[in-house]
Amino acid sequence: MRSVTQGIVEASDLPEGEVAGGVAAIPARAARHLVLIGLPGAGKTTVGRALARRLRLPFVDLDAEIEQLFYKSVSRIFAEDGEAAFRAGEAQVSARLATETDPSVIAPGGGWVVNEAATAHLRGSGRIIYLRVSPDEAAQRMGRGVTRRPLLASGDVVSALTALHDSRRAAYEGLADWTVETAGLARGQVVARVLALVSAGEQVYDHGE
Ligand code: S3P
Repeated sequence: MRSVTQGIVEASDLPEGEVAGGVAAIPARAARHLVLIGLPGAGKTTVGRALARRLRLPFVDLDAEIEQLFYKSVSRIFAEDGEAAFRAGEAQVSARLATETDPSVIAPGGGWVVNEAATAHLRGSGRIIYLRVSPDEAAQRMGRGVTRRPLLASGDVVSALTALHDSRRAAYEGLADWTVETAGLARGQVVARVLALVSAGEQVYDHGE
């Protein structure tokens, strides 16, 4: 079992491929939310859920919140209401989350980063972590999950992801406080890297202000 010091997972306690035992906690002075960004297939939702469990924070799947707002799936929102309506919902949910007091792990959809009406609410309300993945690997990870993604449901998935990656890359990099390269890593390894960054980031935060 790996040690957890004062509720903070030490970076040195997190070897690749292993998530430390015990519960990690964000210190009281920490920035509030942890927002995971990246291409569809980057692992935002699976990593986010595991991260939230480890940190004992609520997990918010932003797409699921939008589905509740519209009482229908993302695919149906795109088909029946259009992408602009989906993006308006994205902004509305982001505004609500920004004012909620409880720190959360938040996983928005891959296009959230280019929706300024949405990002404006959550920028500065926490740390933004970019899970970087190549279009090839993202396609492999999603497998048949592409059918639930209206922007990827028709045509060649890798080409579509490459176009999204090219057009959003600057936004992903520009918004990110931290970037985690996920190439070839299992979910647990990505979670370990994020926890290490959270821990290291808070040490800087505590001593730097
Ligand atoms: C989108 C990504 C999806 C979802 C919607 C639009 C995008 O989320 O928000 O289909 O613009 O890249 P995931 O990144 O979870 O697939």
